[in-house]
Amino acid sequence: MLDIAAITHTLGSMHACRFDIDLLQECPSTNAELLSRAEAGAASGSVVVAETQTAGRGRQGRQWISAPDDSLTFSLLWRFAPGTSPAGLSLAIGLAVAQALHKVGAGGTAPIQLKWPNDLLKDGRKLGGILVELVPGAPHAAVIGIGLNLRLPAGMPAGLAAQSAALENTGDANALLAIILVELLAVLTAFATGGFAALRDGWRTRHAFEGKPICLLSDFAPPRHGICRGVDMDGALLLEADGRIERILSGEVSLRQA
Ligand code: BTN
Repeated sequence: MLDIAAITHTLGSMHACRFDIDLLQECPSTNAELLSRAEAGAASGSVVVAETQTAGRGRQGRQWISAPDDSLTFSLLWRFAPGTSPAGLSLAIGLAVAQALHKVGAGGTAPIQLKWPNDLLKDGRKLGGILVELVPGAPHAAVIGIGLNLRLPAGMPAGLAAQSAALENTGDANALLAIILVELLAVLTAFATGGFAALRDGWRTRHAFEGKPICLLSDFAPPRHGICRGVDMDGALLLEADGRIERILSGEVSLRQA
């Protein structure tokens, strides 16, 4: 299904030179693969895309399950200038992917939305996820992993299917990957100079829970209820509760509409 020549064709000569794309039929996890390549010195712009992941990694130590042909799973290595803070990076990536999906007409009349910190939603259901991992020993290098549902597998358990969405008719996965990479390039360039603050307004226009009652669930603390007041300049979630605004920084929480 995936094909390097087709991806490079859509990237065009101006953008193709910014990426070094490796297509694998199968690997445990594109993030794990690229992290080890990064530690061995792989260049910024290295991309690993896999037809099949056998041990895909999700946030909070969860598994990311995807089926060949039904999903797009890839990782990008990006090296920032020393001193660049990664705060808000995963939110910025969500924005890039949402913008790319908008360009290919995904979501139809309903825009693709974002759920803090970095879920992609279509009609309120999860369309894709992002896992950013910093390269050990190189704090300004990040492996950016993206998983998108192209189709929902027929045998998906009903409970999971009810919470999941897929792109369905957005054409060729090669072109989609190329368009996402181009958008990532633009967003990462903006992030490198202005941090998440430069992208915050765009993120908030796609935020699914802006001004809405939410509940934050954690394995380590009781649930917290409040009104979502968007995100701060560094990507922290703003929760209004008991007359004051609390900044939520930990990614170890799950957000639900209350
Ligand atoms: C989430 O839990 O929502 C994040 C899921 C991220 C999955 C992607 S698929 C490509 C890359 N490789 C991985 O092992 N995980 C990420």
